[in-house]
Amino acid sequence: MLMKKIVILTGAGVSAESGIKTFRDSGGLWEEHRVEDVATFDAWERDPELVLKFYNERRKQLYECKPNAAHIALAELEKKFDVQIITQNVDDLHERGGSTKVLHLHGELKKSRSTMDETLVYPIEGWELKMGDCCEKGSQLRPHIVWFGEAVPNILKAAELSSKADIYMVIGTSLNVYPAAGLLGYVPPYVPKYLIDPNGNEVMGVNNLTIIKEKAGKGVTELVKKLMA
Ligand code: APR
Repeated sequence: MLMKKIVILTGAGVSAESGIKTFRDSGGLWEEHRVEDVATFDAWERDPELVLKFYNERRKQLYECKPNAAHIALAELEKKFDVQIITQNVDDLHERGGSTKVLHLHGELKKSRSTMDETLVYPIEGWELKMGDCCEKGSQLRPHIVWFGEAVPNILKAAELSSKADIYMVIGTSLNVYPAAGLLGYVPPYVPKYLIDPNGNEVMGVNNLTIIKEKAGKGVTELVKKLMA
């Protein structure tokens, strides 16, 4: 029997209960740091040390976090469904939770890439990326992160995956950042959609949407139980 395809778009909220700060909630990362100081290419050109420090801190913290009930429940779904995760998160908690198909839209914290050739991507050993760490062609390595204003290379793949879903889930994202926020628009109207977020709201133009106003740990576990029954 062909397995039904569940496509799941996640944001910072799915990792919140693992101890990772979200961006736009009160106390979120963008309250403490200015986006234009740490998360744009201009910032990198102006003050690469500051940008490296910001991501080094995030990476160091990631090593202290582990997947929560939501990540683990999503991996469970693979027993019965063809599950594709599309995440805006740069952490590796879906992978560590056991999910096997994870598409990262905004890059990965534990990887670096060449500033000269964006196809040269490397794992970062440990938590620190430093000035003077170079790619094989000799140029400085930068965090493998999609900064504001940069293209999102995986968006076409994500749109295609979204258009083929039999069931769609959106977890823990404020849907503020495009193009990721537009992915719901690619999901066919008849496909059942679930939004799990304590602050979830109707999304304009999106029908068949069930809003579950819960934290991911509880909301995702309960929904997965229902889908697996
Ligand atoms: N469970 C589920 N959702 C939660 C939880 C939780 N425990 N805690 C908070 N949330 C929800 C918030 O209600 C909010 O809707 O998570 C969402 C977090 O929103 P943002 O901070 O805007 O994060 P996200 O949508 O992932 O941001 C998108 O912006 O700067 C960036 O590149 C970064 O990928 C990120 C993008």
